[in-house]
Amino acid sequence: MNYDSHAMSAAETIFALRERVKELTCLYRITDLANRTDLAFEDFMKQVLNIIPRSMQYPSATGCRIQIDGKNYDSPNLEFGNEHIVVDISANQQLRGTIQVYYQDSANVEFLHEETLLLKGVAQQLALVLERKGIEDSNQKLQEQLRHADRLATIGQLSAGIAHEINEPLSAILGFGQLLKSDYQLPEAAEKDVQKIIASALHAREVVRKLMLFSRQVPPKMKDVNLNKLIEEGFYFLENRCQKQSITIVKELQEALPDIVADASQMHQVLVNLSVNAMQAMPEGGTLTIRTSCSGDTIEMQVADTGIGMDRDLVQKIFIPFFTTKDVDQGTGLGLPVVHGIISSHHGAIKVESEPGQGTTFRIFLKVNND
Ligand SMILES: Nc1ncnc2c1ncn2[C@@H]1O[C@H](COP(=O)(O)OP(=O)(O)OP(=O)(O)O)[C@@H](O)[C@H]1O
Ligand SMILES: [Mg+2]
Repeated sequence: MNYDSHAMSAAETIFALRERVKELTCLYRITDLANRTDLAFEDFMKQVLNIIPRSMQYPSATGCRIQIDGKNYDSPNLEFGNEHIVVDISANQQLRGTIQVYYQDSANVEFLHEETLLLKGVAQQLALVLERKGIEDSNQKLQEQLRHADRLATIGQLSAGIAHEINEPLSAILGFGQLLKSDYQLPEAAEKDVQKIIASALHAREVVRKLMLFSRQVPPKMKDVNLNKLIEEGFYFLENRCQKQSITIVKELQEALPDIVADASQMHQVLVNLSVNAMQAMPEGGTLTIRTSCSGDTIEMQVADTGIGMDRDLVQKIFIPFFTTKDVDQGTGLGLPVVHGIISSHHGAIKVESEPGQGTTFRIFLKVNND
């Protein structure tokens, strides 16, 4: 009897030791994986889902689900049995998800307390990986923004150069064309041709003007401007067009909005360019909302539509001069570069929020005290 119980406890000890070794191996392997920076997150999760069941007492009856930010990662044999463990994954003091481990009901077995502790250890490793991933993602976003700003600055310099070089010959073409027309009694056909030269030169001058606005070659004429007033006054001529297109205009203007120091006609141009884009994005009708608000020393103006929206790739390109998705007679691709140039020269910022099929919101931020 004595001998038997002694033998049992030795077997139990060996069993328990084996379990601990399995658990330690699991933690060791996951820690090792967590330190591998070359591993993509999805691959990392796949391997973790492979390792966890093997550290439990009955691997073939074990299924595992890891939920992170609402997304489920499941082991291949997952079956939701009654017997289960759930532990939270918290990164940066924020609950990000859970690790759930299940035994199949048919196995009729129970989890050990040590296994819960092990999963808590795994959850800590996952949290570290999530924290690192968060830092890497925001670094990458910052790099992208820097590259974008850098590219726009280079294009700005190039456009400034081209605009400057073209401006002079263009003025000559326009000036002499107008002289020809006014000073000579031209035959009808010749007069028509000269008129075409003048019209083309005027069009080219408009493009040059926009390029100069984009490359911040037109210094703003600063004075006190009230954006609410500018919106009320500047919008009436768009209202007719909106009505024809079944677009409802909603104005949500904050009362007693402070003035900003800005170039009124350039601000008007910003409003028009954004509103025209919004209307063009809603060929079937919709709602165009203009909002103003003030928080601290920053004024925000929003132009929001319920139109076709844009995907991430498209949003990346919209501030590049001559980028357009519209037909030749519909757009030159200079509307948003102009908005960008004007807001930059006012030391402001632009944010774009867009979702394909859901609409787009342009948010313009300007300081009340614009030094
Ligand atoms: N509100 C919006 N909804 C969906 N797409 C938009 C919106 N605003 C801009 N875009 C996209 O960004 C592109 C660039 O816009 P931008 O105003 O610079 O040029 P454009 O409208 O094509 O031509 P232009 O303004 O010179 O007449 C557009 O062609 C369109 O694809
Ligand atoms: Mg446009």
